[in-house]
Amino acid sequence: MRNYKLLVAVLFFMGFSSLQAQEKIPQVEELLAKMTLEEKIGQLNLLTPGGGVATGSVVSEDVENKIRAGNVGGVFGVSSPARVRQAQELAVKNSRLGIPLLIGADVIHGYKTTFPIPLGLSSSWDMELIKESAKIAAREATADGINWNFSPMVDITRDPRWGRFAETAGEDPFLGSAVAKAMVEGYQQDDLSKPHTMMATVKHMALYGAPEGGRDYNRVDMSRTKMFNEYLPPYKAAVDAGVGSVMTSFNDIDGVPATGNKWLLTDLLRERWGFDGFVVSDYTSVNEMIAHGMGDLQDVSALALKAGLDMDMVGEGFLTTLKKSVEEGKVSEEEITTAARRILEAKHKIGLLDDPYLYSDESRPEKDILTKENRDFARKAAAHSFVLFKKHNNALPLDKNAKIALIGPLANDKNNMLGTWAPTGDQQLSIPVLEGFKNVAPKADITYAKGANISDDSTFAKKVNVFGPRIQISEESPEEMLQEALRIANASDVVVAVVGEASEMSGEAASRTDITIPESQKKLIRELAATGKPVVLVLMSGRPLDISEEMELPVTILQVWHPGVEAGNAIADVIFGDYNPSGKLTATWPRSVGQIPIYYGMRNTGRPAPADRFEKFKSNYLDSPNTPLLPFGYGLSYTEFEYSNVKANKQTLKAGEEITLTATVKNTGNYNGDEVVQLYISDKVRSITPPLKELKGFEKIRLQKGESREVSFTITADDLKFYNSQLEYVFEPGEFEFFIGGSSDHKMTGSFELTE
Ligand code: BGC
Repeated sequence: MRNYKLLVAVLFFMGFSSLQAQEKIPQVEELLAKMTLEEKIGQLNLLTPGGGVATGSVVSEDVENKIRAGNVGGVFGVSSPARVRQAQELAVKNSRLGIPLLIGADVIHGYKTTFPIPLGLSSSWDMELIKESAKIAAREATADGINWNFSPMVDITRDPRWGRFAETAGEDPFLGSAVAKAMVEGYQQDDLSKPHTMMATVKHMALYGAPEGGRDYNRVDMSRTKMFNEYLPPYKAAVDAGVGSVMTSFNDIDGVPATGNKWLLTDLLRERWGFDGFVVSDYTSVNEMIAHGMGDLQDVSALALKAGLDMDMVGEGFLTTLKKSVEEGKVSEEEITTAARRILEAKHKIGLLDDPYLYSDESRPEKDILTKENRDFARKAAAHSFVLFKKHNNALPLDKNAKIALIGPLANDKNNMLGTWAPTGDQQLSIPVLEGFKNVAPKADITYAKGANISDDSTFAKKVNVFGPRIQISEESPEEMLQEALRIANASDVVVAVVGEASEMSGEAASRTDITIPESQKKLIRELAATGKPVVLVLMSGRPLDISEEMELPVTILQVWHPGVEAGNAIADVIFGDYNPSGKLTATWPRSVGQIPIYYGMRNTGRPAPADRFEKFKSNYLDSPNTPLLPFGYGLSYTEFEYSNVKANKQTLKAGEEITLTATVKNTGNYNGDEVVQLYISDKVRSITPPLKELKGFEKIRLQKGESREVSFTITADDLKFYNSQLEYVFEPGEFEFFIGGSSDHKMTGSFELTE
């Protein structure tokens, strides 16, 4: 009975969204009526004139003439009000119908004011902060002529081998959905036609974060229930938040590349989710379907259009083959008109059809870009993203008068602070850690030594250095560098070692099979720990690393990701105690590559292993525990938080009603601090195997030392829904358990019953 009602509801909703005729925009329809087939195809063509970072092997040629000929709908890699005005003039004054261009860009974690990498930002668990970062990015980027952004990337990932982990919000669909919403709302705000907002693109639809072997661009094979429950929610959250465009992914899904996948782009995205914006390919991902084995350029271009792709990024397959396909009856002019309409509607939404020069105000960059307020915000955002992994002998926070040995290949570096995928930022404006220490603790006695290369392997360094000198191998021998570091370490009160990954050791096409800190630095860390001085490791990375060895050493560890333009100042703020670290992991850190994929929301097996020992014929490893090195949701503070009185306000939750789950959180330590209070629920029995636990709520609170507060979460039956094997979104009555705590690594402490 219940299922029947649900089916009716689903069918009604599906029918409703697909039948619901979109209101036509007169300005757009008038243009369409005047357009030739070629001009419509031109709108579907996105080019990049080069000059920026090209992530594919192709850079567009002869862009100016193509714009004049009406063969271009948008460009990316062009910025500054003057250049954007020039580009718009080419289109507006020289093409027959004078249709302005979309001006795209990859504004991933800030524009010129670079914020921490997205994985870092997500670790703040602060949705207001994340939204504000997107708002600032939009203000800066639009001041520089950009009106369309290729962000947010919301791909769920559980594979630290994959380099683009850095660009994600981690492993969890609930948190990932909250981040997706915050980013879209930040970029677009409530009116896309305002000059300080830009259209967002949710990417990469879909499942791009689950490539086999963690190797970028690789195939993805996944069950529908896993997709719907664990990987698709953040894309849907972005659609629900009104995202203007969707970018397809490079991988295949069920054997059909996403860019040509009708089930994905039409049945799911448009029919089921009701998306009414436009879909753009990833960089040459239409053409790449040839290598996938889907046919020649004409075949794959037709396949993509018919699947629901509206715009072809860089590859020009649409431009060069669609007319022929119409003539041969392989696609219809109507399909092309539909795609062109969506592009024109986007131009209308962002205000370009009324004013092509809306984003070409030359007075704006100075007022809006890299302002003191924006940099101050970047500093705060970075400090809030850091995660304290390990405390040892209360070494932190440091005294501002201490004698400090600041050591490490990332301790006085400007080339790696921004992190991966910050092409619009300027490395040279970033604050190195040494400078930040001097700013925040001018009275401290600081000596610096590099101590080690990021890696001693020049072949590896060459692969990492494609966008600039991220790994610089010193003239000095590794032994000389080490001895110098040990000399200053021994002469100091405390050692701070800034170590980890260069920024381009993560990011696109930067997969690793070994996720440890490179051996050159491991050696330095071991030797520093052996001096007997208090040692603080400040760890930079764009992914979870295997730091099993370092966790065993007598050291303090602070994870800082790649912190952005204010790196040094933010690190100093935390190291010297001006901000008490509050970040929590948004992805599980494994003990070794062999445990991957490892995530907190795993399903049980029929033979669960005991937590504390190996047992034959149970689901475990001969050579490793099942538990991670660091769990999802984990992060320490200079103070301590205690949880008590975890309870539900009733024992039974009826559909249509609410239940309130509460805990008392007390700051029992010696510092004021922020804590991310997390609610996890587990469904005891259901028709498809339930995850061991699922995040269902979180709140970041500030507690003064000694202060305690009740934190409550209100849950309804809707919050307990999942996609069953028929892909219906349902709840099932029965027993649920829950806990409220400061990390995912807890036993359930409360329970309630859900009834219909
Ligand atoms: C990336 C996208 C990016 C695009 C344009 C591609 O290689 O996968 O994330 O938006 O390039 O720069």
